[in-house]
Amino acid sequence: MKKYHTIVVALHWVLALGIIFSLAAGSLMLAETPNSDPSKMNGLAIHMGIGIVILLLTLVRIVARVRTGTPDPVAGGNPMLEKLAHATHGLLYLGVIVMGISGISMALADDLGGIVYFGSGEPLPENFDDLAPRFVHGLVATGLMVLIALHFLAAVYHQHVLKDGLMSRMGFRDK
Ligand code: HEM
Repeated sequence: MKKYHTIVVALHWVLALGIIFSLAAGSLMLAETPNSDPSKMNGLAIHMGIGIVILLLTLVRIVARVRTGTPDPVAGGNPMLEKLAHATHGLLYLGVIVMGISGISMALADDLGGIVYFGSGEPLPENFDDLAPRFVHGLVATGLMVLIALHFLAAVYHQHVLKDGLMSRMGFRDK
């Protein structure tokens, strides 16, 4: 097997876009907007919707990856770096799942679903700072940013230094 299944590849790129967008918009816009700002409701509605879709698609991707298999390891790879890559990939999945679960926990704790989507009429709380999942969400967001940077640098290293064609395993073309 030379490359990942097309479904696994497609979900990789859709999730990459969604996760990078959510990390950037979450930390640069959403967390910077006070809950008293009228635009916060829209920001939360978009963020929570995209976050739930990301969580569901991540679970679909894990199942698809297990069921369709992984490509053979690249010949002549460094065993230490392969272990690091394996650990990074595991932590990436875990990080995204924890982001989804901590986000949903915040939403449940403060009835954000009712306020944002179902017009319950209740005001947003002053902030989310007293919620433990809010602390987890912020901490894991920073961890994910570091892991994504490592993951990106590893891909560039394979593509431009080792030139071992590893990236084509995550492409759509059959070679
Ligand atoms: C799974 C992908 C997700 C990513 C990558 C993500 C990313 C982020 C980031 C980066 C922040 C700002 C953190 C900070 O600066 O401390 C944030 C805040 C937040 N997220 Fe998410 N999130 C995700 C899913 C969710 C879900 C599923 C929900 C709820 C259903 C949610 C609800 C929130 C809330 C309520 C905040 C707090 C905003 C504030 O403090 O004003 N997130 N998210």
